[in-house]
Formats: sequence, structure tokens, C-alpha cells
Amino acid sequence: MASTQGYVGFGSFFVERSVEDMVSDDTYEPPPPQIQPEDDPLAAADTELGVVCRQLFLIDFENWTFINHGAFGGVCRPAYAEAAAWREHCERQPLLFLDRQLFPQMVRVMREIASFMHARPQDLVFLPNATTGLNVAIQSAQLQPGDALYMLNIGYGSVKKMAAAASSQAEVVYGDVSFPISGPDEIVRLVERTMPSNTKMAVFDAVTSNTALVLPIQQLVQLCKSRGILVLVDAAHALGQLEVNLGSLDADFYVTNCHKWLAGPRGSAVFWAHPRVQHTVRPLVVSHGSGHGFTSDFIWDGCRDYAPYLGVSAALRMWQQLGPERCRTYMHNLVCQAANLLASAWRTTTLAPLHMCASMALVELPFKQAAAGAELQDPGEPANSTNAKHVQEVLHQNFRIECPVKCIQGCLYVRISACIYNTLHDYEKLMEAIFKIGGRAS
Ligand SMILES: Cc1ncc(COP(=O)(O)O)c(C=O)c1O
Repeated sequence: MASTQGYVGFGSFFVERSVEDMVSDDTYEPPPPQIQPEDDPLAAADTELGVVCRQLFLIDFENWTFINHGAFGGVCRPAYAEAAAWREHCERQPLLFLDRQLFPQMVRVMREIASFMHARPQDLVFLPNATTGLNVAIQSAQLQPGDALYMLNIGYGSVKKMAAAASSQAEVVYGDVSFPISGPDEIVRLVERTMPSNTKMAVFDAVTSNTALVLPIQQLVQLCKSRGILVLVDAAHALGQLEVNLGSLDADFYVTNCHKWLAGPRGSAVFWAHPRVQHTVRPLVVSHGSGHGFTSDFIWDGCRDYAPYLGVSAALRMWQQLGPERCRTYMHNLVCQAANLLASAWRTTTLAPLHMCASMALVELPFKQAAAGAELQDPGEPANSTNAKHVQEVLHQNFRIECPVKCIQGCLYVRISACIYNTLHDYEKLMEAIFKIGGRAS
């Protein structure tokens, strides 16, 4: 690969057009894929959602009750197979693939994902994970002394570190969300009140990680734009869990994982930047394409494995075949049903009203410090994260249930995820396990 001089954009000596050129020309037709894309016959509009869909994933459902898709996702079989086919294809003739076939195929998949997100392919690039995209976006703000970066206290832990690292001379201001919460308007009012006038960039999660809230992103983006503030949406959880429509969202930056709810191959994420800010964006890794435009800047950051990005195509086909809206409805209804079941069995509550959730929800545990098989200890004492970790560990070790436990405002909660392979029975097992851990018969 080498940068070509004489035209704008980066390409190989052996592909006549640059990626910049190919990706922005609607009349360009990428060649068909050099591998044989194969669809799983199960991925069809009439496939029943639930247990049948377990065959579409690699997760070991025989041995685990898996209600934690929200943590690291889980690749679907068609995407895993397609990425593997691309990896093998590359190794059969690396020069043929990397020098001549890769970029047109990347353009094809960029178009597919762009269409799924209602975006233009020239405004997005693939990156290995949301973390990389978030770093790029935050660094592009180039915070100066006197600037503030604003985010909510329920924002993602590593983003707080990125904000601190990027703002050594600026300040990071947090809006404090506390529970109980009545609805999304409360978040908008909090931001209106607490986002300082010197805010240069605000970061909001589409879905928060620890607290599983769907934030009112549309209103928050509008608020920032009305005040001339750059807005970055950390949508690590969005793709596959929420409908993503970048055409109607006026954000500056949007970062989403493909390897989480989209069930794409691990190591795939999308970084999108509005055309008005693309000139401010620099890749973390400088390589051949740097300086040739937005797509070129990111498409080649040294030789590596492109199979995860190319495999996203199969994940998209799977969702299209199953019906993305049908799947989202199934997952949301299931998580609501499960949360209500658990809260009523345990005589507790959900962290937030369920209309603020998509496919994840938090339900309070009926104890604060349970040791396995022990009676409740000091029920009046606030719980801490060690207590949470302990319960999660017992669920994992003793019950083979994969479900995170969170400590929020001194109380313990399970964060349940509902994916298309889950059924209510998974949460009934969790219900019984928690009764046992708490030392109470159901
Ligand atoms: C809100 C949020 N942001 C960012 C990330 C980081 O994603 P990744 O580890 O895939 O980069 C996560 C991961 O779960 C997340 O929940």
C-alpha cells in the first residue's frame, strides 16, 4: 500500500480509484465479494425468536444461562463464518487481497452499514472498538484552558479517564443523575441546569452501561447545538439495540460498536463524524492514508486483520432477514417482562421506569450483602462494589448464570440483558438463584 499522488484520497497502486473517490461516488459499483457469502437458513422473517435463535450464536447455552449480552456482546454464526472466510481468503494470496481487493470490499461494507444507520458512507469509518472512536472524538475537541468537557456521572468509566486525559488544562464537569428517576425529561432538565457556558464538548451515552438507561439523545443533541457545543454520542450499546438514524440526529460525533448488540465479529465498531467537523478529526495511528481525507485517514492504520469489518456484512443480513424491528420489540418486551417478574418475586423495584430501557434493565436484589447460602447481613448497611462482585461471582461459579451485579447508591442490582436467544425461563433461573444466595426459599 502506498499513498498515491495526483488525486485526492488514498488507494493502492493497483486499484484505479482512491477510497475517498469510491466511497463518495454513488454510481461506483464495488465488485461482488471474492468469498461466497452464506446465510444461515434460520435467519428468516418467520424464525421464532427465543430458544431457536440459540443456533444462530456460538455461546455455550448448554452450560450457561447467559443474560449478559450487554457486556461484550457475542458474535452471530453467519458473521463469524464470513469473517473467517475473509481471513482465509486473505492468507491464500495476501497481495491480491490487500493490494487489489480490500478497499472496494471495504467500500461495499461501509455502504451497507451506512444504510443501516441512515448515514452516508463517506461520513463513517470502521474502527476496532468504541474506545478508539471515543478517543478520536474527544481528542478532536482540542480542549484549551478555560474550556469545559461536560458529561453525566452515569457515563462510561473509561470515557471519564479519556476526558481527564484530554483536558489537563480544561475542566471536566459532571451532571449528577440520582435515583429514583421519573423519566427522560429529568435528564434534559438536569443538563440544561448544569452544563456550563464554557462547555466545548458534551458526551452523552445513547444507552448507559452500568444503569442501562436510554438517554433522550435527540433532545440533548438539540440542546447542545442550540448552545454551539460539540456533541459526542457514546452509542457503544446502540447498534442492534436501538434504531439508529444519523440522518435525523444533528450530532457531531457518533460512536457505536458492531461487536455488541449487532452481534458482529469482535473488533468491529463504527466512528461517524458530521461533515462540518471532519476536518478537525485526526486518527490515533498515523499511516499511509493520513492527510488524504476522512476515509483515507482511518482505512489503513498499518497492516492488520480486516476480517471483522468485512464480516459485519453477514450480521447486517441476519438482522435484515429476521427483521430488526421485530427483534428489538422482542428484546424490549422480554426485558420488561423479566424485570417485572424479578421485582415482584423479590419485592423490590427496577432502578428506572421500564420505558427508559431498551434491552437491558436493572432490578434491585432483595439483599445488600448476601454471602452464598447465608442469611441477610446488616440489612441496614449500604452495599458496596465488593458485595456486588461477590454476588456476581457466586452466580457465575455456583449457578453458571452470567449476569452482572451493580452497586448503585448503596443498593445491589442485577443488570439483565435480553437478546433474541433469551426466554423468560433464563430469568426464572436467576430469580431462584438469588433466593438461594440470599438464604431464603422461593
Ligand atoms: C457506554 C459504553 N461506552 C464505551 C464502551 C467501550 O466499548 P469497547 O470496549 O467495545 O471499546 C462500552 C463498553 O461496554 C460502553 O458500555
